[in-house]
Amino acid sequence: MSVECFVTGGTGFIGQHLLAYLSAKGHPIRVLMRRPERLAALREQVDKLGGVATRVFAVAGDLEHDNLGLSLADREVLRQSRIVFHLGAHFAWGLSLEHSRAVNVEGAQRVALLAVEQKSRLVMTGGYMLKNHEHLQRIGIDPRHPELTNWRAVYRRVGAYEGSKLEAHFATLQLMSAKGGEMTVVHPATVCGHSRTGHILDGQPLVELIRNLVQGKLTAVPGTPDHWLPLVTVDYLVELMAACAFDPAMAGQELLALDHQSPSLRELMVQVTRPIGLKSPKHHIPLRLLKVLLSIPPVARFLNSSTEALDFIQTTRFDTTAAEQFANRHGLAKPDMRQSLQHTAVFVHSHCMTRGNIR
Ligand SMILES: NC(=O)c1ccc[n+]([C@@H]2O[C@H](COP(=O)([O-])OP(=O)(O)OC[C@H]3O[C@@H](n4cnc5c(N)ncnc54)[C@H](OP(=O)(O)O)[C@@H]3O)[C@@H](O)[C@H]2O)c1
Repeated sequence: MSVECFVTGGTGFIGQHLLAYLSAKGHPIRVLMRRPERLAALREQVDKLGGVATRVFAVAGDLEHDNLGLSLADREVLRQSRIVFHLGAHFAWGLSLEHSRAVNVEGAQRVALLAVEQKSRLVMTGGYMLKNHEHLQRIGIDPRHPELTNWRAVYRRVGAYEGSKLEAHFATLQLMSAKGGEMTVVHPATVCGHSRTGHILDGQPLVELIRNLVQGKLTAVPGTPDHWLPLVTVDYLVELMAACAFDPAMAGQELLALDHQSPSLRELMVQVTRPIGLKSPKHHIPLRLLKVLLSIPPVARFLNSSTEALDFIQTTRFDTTAAEQFANRHGLAKPDMRQSLQHTAVFVHSHCMTRGNIR
C-alpha cells in the first residue's frame, strides 16, 4: 500500500537515502526544500541511489520561518501525508546559539505542530548521545526533568549544534505529549556511508575524519584503545526509520540506531586507511590534550576539527537489544561494518577530496 509522506531534510545525506528507499517502495514523498528549483537535481540523485524520482515532489519552505514558510496551497497538499519524517537540521561546528535554536529547536517544533494538526505520525531524528544518560547528567540534563535544564549552560558545554539537538528532542517530546500527537524517535549513531557503494555526502563527520587522515592532519588516535565512535550505515538506518514509521507498535517509542559491533576508533582508522593504501596512526593522543590543542583557533583550523567533535568519541557502551529485536521482527539484516567502512573510505577518496589539499 502506498502512503504519502512528508520529509524535511530530504536533500541531506540521510534524507536522500530515505527518499530513495521510500520511493522505491512505492510511496509518494513531498520534500521541504529551501531551494525548490533544485528538485531536478534531487530527483536525479534519488534515481542514482535506487529510488523512483517521479514519486518525489518539492514543497517550498524553511524550518526557520513561521508555519515553515509554506504557501496555503502547499499546506493543503501536505494534509495528505500520513507520515512526517523530520530530518532537517543545520549541522556544523561553531554555530551561534540563536541560529541553531531557530533551525534545530524551533524548526522541529514547527514540524511537530504540523504533524499534530493533521494527525500524522511524526518520525523524529534525534542522536545517540540522547541515549547516553551519564553524559546527559554530566552536562546538566536530567532526562526525567528536562524542564529544569539550564540550556545556555548546556550549549556552552557541548556546542550549539549538539545543544540544540538535545533541546529539540525534549521540546518536541513535551509538545507532542501536551497535544496528544503520535511520535517515534530514531537516534542514529554517527552515520557511515552506504554498506555496498560507500556513498556519503561531503560535510559528514566521517568524511572529515577520512580526509584528515589522507591529508596527514590526523596522525594519532584520539582517546585510548577503549574509545570508539559508534556507527550505523545509512542504508540500515533508513530501513529502520521506515520500519518504525509504518509499525503501529512504535508510536511513542524511541529506537537507538547504532551498530554495537562498530570497531574501536583505532580499528576504524585501520579499516578506512587500508583500502586507500595509507598507514593508520599507531599512537594515541589523550582527549584532554586534544581538547586543549583544539581550543587554539589556528590549530583547530589546521587540524580541520573542533572540540565539539570530541564528545562523540567515548567509551560508553549502549544497550541495543531492543533495536536488534525490532530489526529481527522486520527481517532487517545489519550490514558488515568493517566492509562498509572500507567502501566509504574508497568513495571519499574518489569523490570528496577536492575541498582541501591532498598530500
Ligand atoms: N549524519 C550523522 O552522523 C547524524 C547522526 C545523528 C543524528 N543525525 C541527525 O539526522 C538528521 C539528518 O542528518 P544528515 O546528516 O542527513 O544532515 P545533512 O546532510 O547535514 O542535511 C541537513 C538537511 O537539513 C536541511 N536544512 C538545513 N537547514 C534548513 C532550514 N533552515 N530549512 C529547511 N531545511 C533545512 C538541509 O537542506 P538544504 O539542502 O537546503 O541545506 C538538508 O536537507 C539531522 O537531524 C541530524 O542531526 C545525523
